[in-house]
Amino acid sequence: MEDLINPLKEAVIRALQEAKTMEQLETLRVRFLGKKGELTSVLKSVNKFSIDERKVIGYEGNKLKSYITERILELKSKIENNKLKNKFDITLPGTDFEEGTYHPITIVQRDIEEIFKGMGFMIADTNEVETDYYNFEALNVPKYHPARDMQDTYWLENGMVLRTQTSAGQQHLMEQFSPPIKAIIPGRCFRNEDIDASHENTFFQLEGIVIDEGISVANLIYTMETMLSKMFEKKITVRLRPGYFPFVEPGFELDIRCEICGGKGCPTCKNSGWVELLPCGMVHPNVLKYGGINSEKYTGFAFGLGLTRLAMMKYGIPDIRAFNSGNLKILKQFK
Ligand code: DAH
Repeated sequence: MEDLINPLKEAVIRALQEAKTMEQLETLRVRFLGKKGELTSVLKSVNKFSIDERKVIGYEGNKLKSYITERILELKSKIENNKLKNKFDITLPGTDFEEGTYHPITIVQRDIEEIFKGMGFMIADTNEVETDYYNFEALNVPKYHPARDMQDTYWLENGMVLRTQTSAGQQHLMEQFSPPIKAIIPGRCFRNEDIDASHENTFFQLEGIVIDEGISVANLIYTMETMLSKMFEKKITVRLRPGYFPFVEPGFELDIRCEICGGKGCPTCKNSGWVELLPCGMVHPNVLKYGGINSEKYTGFAFGLGLTRLAMMKYGIPDIRAFNSGNLKILKQFK
């Protein structure tokens, strides 16, 4: 019975060698595998033969059928690929496309978020437009408190404020969660500042708050040192001074040595060699009370990191105005 299949095989091989186009391959398929195709006809005629003969024809015929189908597919994809190759000259230089970059503050914010995430902190996003209550009152800054003067505030006509500090998020967290609370709140803040090399009306802070039983200043110092050294990837020189903020008691100013001038003195550090980086302190019992937290049982610390200032330090950007300037020559240097 091979006599029936073998000549067909030869014909198939020859036809496959000759077929160069999609159309020719299609003709080939129809010639052998079509309804009245040469191979189809042989397979249909098996009834005429004895059982043993049928087996051979069936086996060989179907083998040939699969072979033809596979080869056609292969050749078709080769033709397709060649078409593409002819369309695109892969040796030509490509067209350049502009790759975007992240804003330096975004990069610094994400880096710090990673560090705090690693330390078990939650990342919270709270409002940029706040009520007087969250921005001041619940932070132990009642109306007419002189501390309000330190933060020249944008008041909206409806009585709300553009938050002057991410501390405004503290109460939101205390309202939503019960201790232990361990969270950071990064975000944009606004103050009606005269703009110069180190002041902006729109800047970024990152608030941190930890509330649990038995939290002490030691926890605060350790957390700050660990975080800053990870952030700058080197041991950072810090100093602590007493500081006053109505919502912490005791309150501190944590300074780091100026990374721009190495401590010699420059406009960014106002020639002091130190940059005020991180005010912090133990959460005032009144603030805990506003948050409905038992201040006899729980204590906590809070800190307000100047994200914008930190980005200046990290990248050696001497002028704060660069961040909101839209000056892409400066901003695109950071990836
Ligand atoms: N919110 C303060 C500011 O913007 C910074 C601050 C001070 C935050 C002390 C704190 C803190 O959490 O404990 O001036």
